[in-house]
Amino acid sequence: TAQTVQMTVQAGDPKLQISKHIYGHFAEHLGRCIYGGFWADKDSKAPQQGRIRMDIVEALKKIKVPNLRWPGGCFADTYHWHDGVGPTAQRPKMLNLWWGNTLEDNSFGTHEFLELCNLLGTEPYLAANVGSGTVQEMSNWMEYLNSNEDTPMVLERRANGHPEPYKVSWWGIGNESWGCGGNMTAEYYTDVYKRYATFAHNYPGTPLKRIVSGANGDDAHWTETCMKNIPLNQMWGLTLHQYTLPTGSWSGSKGKATGFGEDQYFSTLRNCLKMDAVVSKHAAIMDKYDKDKKVALLVDEWGVWTDVEPGTNPGFLYQQNSLRDALVAGTTLNIFNNHCDRVRGANLAQAVNVLQAVILTEKDKMLLTPTYHVFDLYQVHQDAQYLPLQFSSPDYAFGNEKIPALNASASKDAKGAVHISLVNLDPTKALTLETALPGVTWKTVTGRVLTSAKINDYNTFEKPNTVALAAFNGAKKRGDKLAVTLPPKSVVVLELK
Ligand code: AHR
Repeated sequence: TAQTVQMTVQAGDPKLQISKHIYGHFAEHLGRCIYGGFWADKDSKAPQQGRIRMDIVEALKKIKVPNLRWPGGCFADTYHWHDGVGPTAQRPKMLNLWWGNTLEDNSFGTHEFLELCNLLGTEPYLAANVGSGTVQEMSNWMEYLNSNEDTPMVLERRANGHPEPYKVSWWGIGNESWGCGGNMTAEYYTDVYKRYATFAHNYPGTPLKRIVSGANGDDAHWTETCMKNIPLNQMWGLTLHQYTLPTGSWSGSKGKATGFGEDQYFSTLRNCLKMDAVVSKHAAIMDKYDKDKKVALLVDEWGVWTDVEPGTNPGFLYQQNSLRDALVAGTTLNIFNNHCDRVRGANLAQAVNVLQAVILTEKDKMLLTPTYHVFDLYQVHQDAQYLPLQFSSPDYAFGNEKIPALNASASKDAKGAVHISLVNLDPTKALTLETALPGVTWKTVTGRVLTSAKINDYNTFEKPNTVALAAFNGAKKRGDKLAVTLPPKSVVVLELK
């Protein structure tokens, strides 16, 4: 019989919070994320305000979106914001050369995005065009949004229907500047960054959070160069992009979104667990230059990246989303929570119809993916006090490889309720846990679980609830201890009060 895992919930540092911004999302002009996603087609009958799809807004409000990154991604370094303001019919069109060569009509621009953020109650996180734009163009965008003086930019904003400044404080200065954002060396980029950052002005009431375009995966040199060359007072955050590919390879097949076997189930989970080492590596470099941990590490692109759904445009990155992907989300978010001293933001790629989406649409229909349900479960951790956990996980072995079957994180909310998120990656074995919570006073435990019959189950427009949340009855109070039986291939969040 399997051994019981002994777990302890520690008191930790009462000042250390899990930033809500770890639960951020990402919306790029890519495939059907904006057009045919957030922004309804002209003939759509889906509930709308303007052309913003309100069924999507309502679903996202339920999981509390703390920030939304836009307009890209690679698209951001081709985007000229001024083409996306003013009367829609007069906006110039452009080709979206990164993603499918589609004709971008600029009908969804800055005002439309900020209205979406307003409806969602979320913080806008803009990415400025460094790759093919100018310092002046970025600086004008900031003035247009944040100033309240009678300058030409501000007069134009007012004429376009927004008298008050928008007060946008989150600014990414470029995206993947080592790749689609300009193929720069780290040394060259840091000089470019400092030039842009110098003209990224604070307007009254809106101090900027200037964000450095960070490393690709485990590229330590990029992080080291940014931390060495950019003064700490010029950077609020530094980013990291780390995707999970089932096959682990960018060339050839990335792996299947559905219909995979245990081999790709295992390799996906093994690859997703690398996030822990990658974050630790960058955090250690940052510690050398910033021992007080002032600069936030923002993993502003993460998620599972598979081959596209057969028959769809390869440039649209449309993929299904299975129970496996929910386990990836639960595991990755546990990793971020456990690194909350440095990771203070993250953005799943992407919110709607692209990569590891939380929402998929088909004409006027919409479905919630298994990954959506994980964000629903984990919202209790947003801005809660971090509680470190101590345990040693049993292995989940496949072939001659093994990974830890169990991962977890915990927090205490403002009302004193303790939440523990537990992920069991083993596809066939339940795990039993006995948890001590010294210093925590609690009487009851409740919980919810996400699991399904098969590792590759997913939700379709015909059967949208194959993978859905259910009440969890596998946790009991036994004396002072918490006894849990965690089902195979499941994500569980417990609440102790
Ligand atoms: O999220 C899709 C793409 O992945 C983004 O545009 C880019 O930044 C990354 O390479």
